[in-house]
Amino acid sequence: MRIFITGSAGFMGSHLVDHLIRIGHQVYGVDDLSGGYMRNVNPKSIFTKLDLRNTPKTVALIVKIKPQLIYHLAADATEGRSQFTPVRATERNLNASLNILVGAVKAKTKRVVMTSSMSVYGDQKPPFSENIPKKPVDIYGISKAAMEDATKVLSQVYGFEYTIIRPHNVFGPKQNLADPYRNVVAIFINCLMQGKNFYIYGDGQQKRAFSFIDDVTPYIANAGFLSKTAGEIINVGPSKEYTINELANEILSHFVTNLNDIPKHLKPIFVPDRPQEVKMAYSTDTKAKKLLGFKNQTPLKEGVAKMVEWAKSVGPQKFQYLDKLELTTGSTPTTWKNKLI
Ligand SMILES: NC(=O)c1ccc[n+]([C@@H]2O[C@H](COP(=O)([O-])OP(=O)(O)OC[C@H]3O[C@@H](n4cnc5c(N)ncnc54)[C@H](O)[C@@H]3O)[C@@H](O)[C@H]2O)c1
Repeated sequence: MRIFITGSAGFMGSHLVDHLIRIGHQVYGVDDLSGGYMRNVNPKSIFTKLDLRNTPKTVALIVKIKPQLIYHLAADATEGRSQFTPVRATERNLNASLNILVGAVKAKTKRVVMTSSMSVYGDQKPPFSENIPKKPVDIYGISKAAMEDATKVLSQVYGFEYTIIRPHNVFGPKQNLADPYRNVVAIFINCLMQGKNFYIYGDGQQKRAFSFIDDVTPYIANAGFLSKTAGEIINVGPSKEYTINELANEILSHFVTNLNDIPKHLKPIFVPDRPQEVKMAYSTDTKAKKLLGFKNQTPLKEGVAKMVEWAKSVGPQKFQYLDKLELTTGSTPTTWKNKLI
């Protein structure tokens, strides 16, 4: 199949490109490299550097490629920061998605797979299942929820098929280690590789379910091909949750000899919660198992070990901050305001 993947220089997008090429598809990728790297781009893919916020260029590219299937993964996925960069988050997550959908309609693409997020559930009682209403509590979640609704409406009007996937807390090799705003696993590892403390927002008792990249990529791919996934919204990721403190200890165990005697310079530093951060967020995987054949194969311990091994092979990375946040107030985390990470 001729497949178009956005965010193909990013973490999840590049793994999906590799997977689809491996199983014999012709893959076209696009990315503006705002959060991804050329080193992630599969040389067997046909790559275009483009900012998807540009409507005419995005639509023209899709019409030229005429993909049968589109996976849309490009985004500004900095959920915690989105309260401080609301315009950037909305333009990159909602506006860019509309450009993809317009292109898909004009190119007569059969199906689009849109990558949403667990953030659309907001602060409800976990585990979140797909049939509870969307109640996002942050700008990132709002932009993803609007993207989902826009996809459904345009599909009803123009007749293309869609599948919406909602991954959560994915980590693994090729993830951006230099982003101080997101990817908790990557941030902790990068700080520890630099021999410095890492920061935990709140008391570290917040819970998340972490997905190792190899455990989600094939199932995201499946979402594009199976007839039973058309028109469906599916959580993709495991249902087993861990606290951030448990995650921190798992990662620390690769950098210290005794967890009961962590040297002062590597101990986590606890700072106030980030505004709008949901305390308990994990999802059910029943629908993913039923429709996508989802299996969670990699225990957290093993996934973290693989990620640490890869990160050490890349080496410590200098954290890259935005020149300026759109809004800076008393509630802006000091870690970002004072570039502490
Ligand atoms: N990683 C996770 O834990 C997670 C969880 C839930 C949802 N998601 C969603 O999955 C998708 C992929 O996430 P990821 O972790 O691989 O992120 P990522 O940042 O590694 O990849 C996103 C890519 O999109 C590109 N991009 C951003 N804005 C663009 C624009 N305007 N034009 C062109 N390219 C642009 C970036 O350069 C980056 O390479 C995103 O939609 C994200 O919201 C990720």
